[in-house]
Amino acid sequence: MRTIEIPLGERAYPVVVGEGLLADPATWAPHLGKAPVVVVTNDTVADLYLQPVLDALAGHDVDTFVMPDGETEKNWDNWRALIGQLADRHAPRDTTLVALGGGVVGDLCGFAAATWMRGIRFIQVPTTLLAQVDASVGGKTAINIPQGKNLVGAFHQPAAVLADTATLRTLPPREYRAGLAEVLKYGAICDAGFIDWFEANIDALRAMDASALAEIVERSVRYKAAVVAEDEQEQGVRAILNFGHTFGHALETHTGYTRFLHGEAIAIGMVVAATLSEARGLLQPGLAQRLADIQSALGLAVSIPADIEPADLLEHMRLDKKNLAGRRRLVLLSAPGNAIIDEDSRDDEILAALTACRDHPE
Ligand SMILES: NC(=O)c1ccc[n+]([C@@H]2O[C@H](COP(=O)([O-])OP(=O)(O)OC[C@H]3O[C@@H](n4cnc5c(N)ncnc54)[C@H](O)[C@@H]3O)[C@@H](O)[C@H]2O)c1
Repeated sequence: MRTIEIPLGERAYPVVVGEGLLADPATWAPHLGKAPVVVVTNDTVADLYLQPVLDALAGHDVDTFVMPDGETEKNWDNWRALIGQLADRHAPRDTTLVALGGGVVGDLCGFAAATWMRGIRFIQVPTTLLAQVDASVGGKTAINIPQGKNLVGAFHQPAAVLADTATLRTLPPREYRAGLAEVLKYGAICDAGFIDWFEANIDALRAMDASALAEIVERSVRYKAAVVAEDEQEQGVRAILNFGHTFGHALETHTGYTRFLHGEAIAIGMVVAATLSEARGLLQPGLAQRLADIQSALGLAVSIPADIEPADLLEHMRLDKKNLAGRRRLVLLSAPGNAIIDEDSRDDEILAALTACRDHPE
């Protein structure tokens, strides 16, 4: 078991990483007192992990809220249903919500925790790789509304994060691979040595070796913690976590969020961002190819499919919410492990990078 402290002053909290944590009462004991607990999860995760969690919480006053699975369920209706349940059952201010699931459950449960009685405790128990290495740490909570994703939300830090790496073994392989792209992102933006580590550990990652899983979750949490501690509310440096995301979001939006998982789009987006960095002369040539090779070896696609027009992606980028005052902001690299915010890339340079990373039409 490894514990990483997120250093946020009075909002500091531990992230505990280990195999088999959630079924062990000892994991929970330090984070729960006698106050009521409500475990929030979805039906897929409930089938796999709700009973072991309830067994580990025997002796506590525990209620459950099980929502349907899916990104579209991160909505007002489920927020209202959860808040309604808390209200109907007179959940007191010292209630702890437990978010057991991926980023969808974590974001919705966190937003309910942020809003019920102006904010109550919650514990993140992330069960996807994306949620363990990203969504559960940092305190961003949100729901989607018809006008857009994550448009309603709050910053609300959890009281603890309990990341049981054994849960990753039941993930659909596609979800696991997509999460690996987000992990590699930390190497690209924070630590060149982590890119080397990936190259040396492809087989262990493919085999979901226990020590490799613990290593990637721990390292990712440390990198994210360092960035979040410097910029809790995303005023500045936290934006580097969006490396690959502007291009990735364009791919996701253009394909109606049905073709790519988020991490799959980010995998391609990172290769485009590195390619642009190299073409702009900001980065020595070679890294774009290394990122592509690592991700291909992990089973990820790393190029834009031939049926997608680069010009259409550029059009989507004009509307990206990370743009400020009409200026397009991109996260690029000045060296492996070193990200920079760029506002100077011209449309023709971006178009050339997108085209260079696209499969050739037949
Ligand atoms: N708050 C943040 O900082 C932050 C950061 C990144 C992403 N997000 C949000 O996270 C969400 C995506 O999260 P996600 O990728 O975890 O998706 P998800 O929560 O939809 O989980 C993916 C799928 O895996 C299933 N699942 C979860 N754990 C499982 C397990 N152990 N075994 C088998 N199946 C399991 C889920 O039921 C779901 O079908 C998005 O809504 C995104 O906006 C938030």
